[in-house]
Amino acid sequence: MKEIFERISVRKYQDKSVEADKIEQILKAAMAAPSASNQQPWEFYVVTDKEKIRQLSKISPYAACAENAPLIIVPCYRTKGLRWNETVLLDLSAATENMLLEVTSLGLGGVWLCAAPLEERMTRTEAVLEIPADLRAFALIAVGYPAESRTQQNRFDENRVHYI
Ligand SMILES: Cc1cc2nc3c(=O)[nH]c(=O)nc-3n(C[C@H](O)[C@H](O)[C@H](O)COP(=O)(O)O)c2cc1C
Repeated sequence: MKEIFERISVRKYQDKSVEADKIEQILKAAMAAPSASNQQPWEFYVVTDKEKIRQLSKISPYAACAENAPLIIVPCYRTKGLRWNETVLLDLSAATENMLLEVTSLGLGGVWLCAAPLEERMTRTEAVLEIPADLRAFALIAVGYPAESRTQQNRFDENRVHYI
């Protein structure tokens, strides 16, 4: 699948909005992900408000690149009524990777900016978005039309593979 090998973290964006149909396609990709017992613990905040984006870019020094993104999607997970609380970060990781691949496929660029499992970054994100108490913020996914490009590193290392 070519998107897997073309995806890079894009941290610079053109001054151009992401169309609503593309945002919906990214969210469909997220929700197509596998999850433990198909529990789908996710909720998604779609942030295009410039002031909220500015505030989110301050949740950590490593999120600063989000300041000029036209869009941040914040995947969150429910904390109540789940069958497998232990797997929520795995479930959300699968959804997040799906989003990044769909972003690439749509000609957009994005980057996964870490919140979970770092409590301070999660709490700051939840405060900015006024997220209900039974939801936890997982990550910031900054998205936009790319203003940078590069070839993906080839990270295949046959020494990491163990055939039995
Ligand atoms: C769990 C996770 C957390 C990350 N957090 C950050 C972050 O806080 N800030 C950032 O700029 N990039 C972050 N990244 C992006 C990585 O730095 C990036 O994926 C890595 O350097 C490999 O580069 P590539 O995505 O271009 O292949 C994160 C990636 C993952 C998977």
